[in-house]
Amino acid sequence: MVLMSQFSLPRVTTGITGLDIMLGGGFPKERTILIAGPAGAGKSTFGLQFLYTGIIQEDEPGIYVSFDETLSNVRTDAASYGWDLKTLENQNLLAMVDGFSGRAGVASNEKYQTKLEVDELLTLLISLIDSVGAERVVIDSITALALSVDDELLIRKEILKLSAVMSSLTCTTLMISEMQNSDEISRFGVEEFMAQGVITLKYDFGKKGTRSLQVRKMRGISHSMIERPFNLTNNGVEVYHDEILYQ
Ligand SMILES: Nc1ncnc2c1ncn2[C@@H]1O[C@H](COP(=O)(O)OP(=O)(O)O)[C@@H](O)[C@H]1O
Ligand SMILES: [Mg+2]
Repeated sequence: MVLMSQFSLPRVTTGITGLDIMLGGGFPKERTILIAGPAGAGKSTFGLQFLYTGIIQEDEPGIYVSFDETLSNVRTDAASYGWDLKTLENQNLLAMVDGFSGRAGVASNEKYQTKLEVDELLTLLISLIDSVGAERVVIDSITALALSVDDELLIRKEILKLSAVMSSLTCTTLMISEMQNSDEISRFGVEEFMAQGVITLKYDFGKKGTRSLQVRKMRGISHSMIERPFNLTNNGVEVYHDEILYQ
């Protein structure tokens, strides 16, 4: 007999069919999830897919904050998966925030901009969540945000503040984190603990180039703990939830 709890958490689709199955229906709604992995693992693609499919399939507007890339690069990369971000921006369903130009010290023509600073980012996000009606937010990446602060203690405080405020808002947030190696999820010692969920993306830089994904933690729901292979295809991230990972 299947027991359905009346207290079961509402879910949001991840935009990735195989991952929705691993999670038993998607991310817990309005929570803050950490997406961690090394450079090139597919983190930005994952985040963009979460937003794009959220808008197209679920009518849930979104916000993407880019600290690691120019927005023009992000739009071009997204187009390679067939995701036309500009049209969604024009329809006010997607707000793209340029956090890169300020960081690089170059001029920007983008509509929404932020400095590499948690308080300023939070103020902007709170107003955009209201004006766009955003239900999904992606911050790419918190590593950039943290590295802008000199003091380790202050870094932790800022990350904690960011996650505490995002968790208190009525949107589901993905915080992207760049790992230096596969074992180090929390570069600053706190990310893993303060997020309500952690998903790691791995990339074997050896001959096979195998990509894999694991749900390390997802508070409040039961989920698969098994590391599964995935691929980046012309349609974005595809997770093979019932395939065994051969390394
Ligand atoms: N259209 C595409 N189809 C399949 N794979 C792609 C496509 N575009 C980029 N990639 C792959 O995605 C990788 C970058 O993914 P990205 O999400 O930017 O990683 P991260 O944000 O973790 O650094 C590239 O190195 C390439 O292997
Ligand atoms: Mg990236």
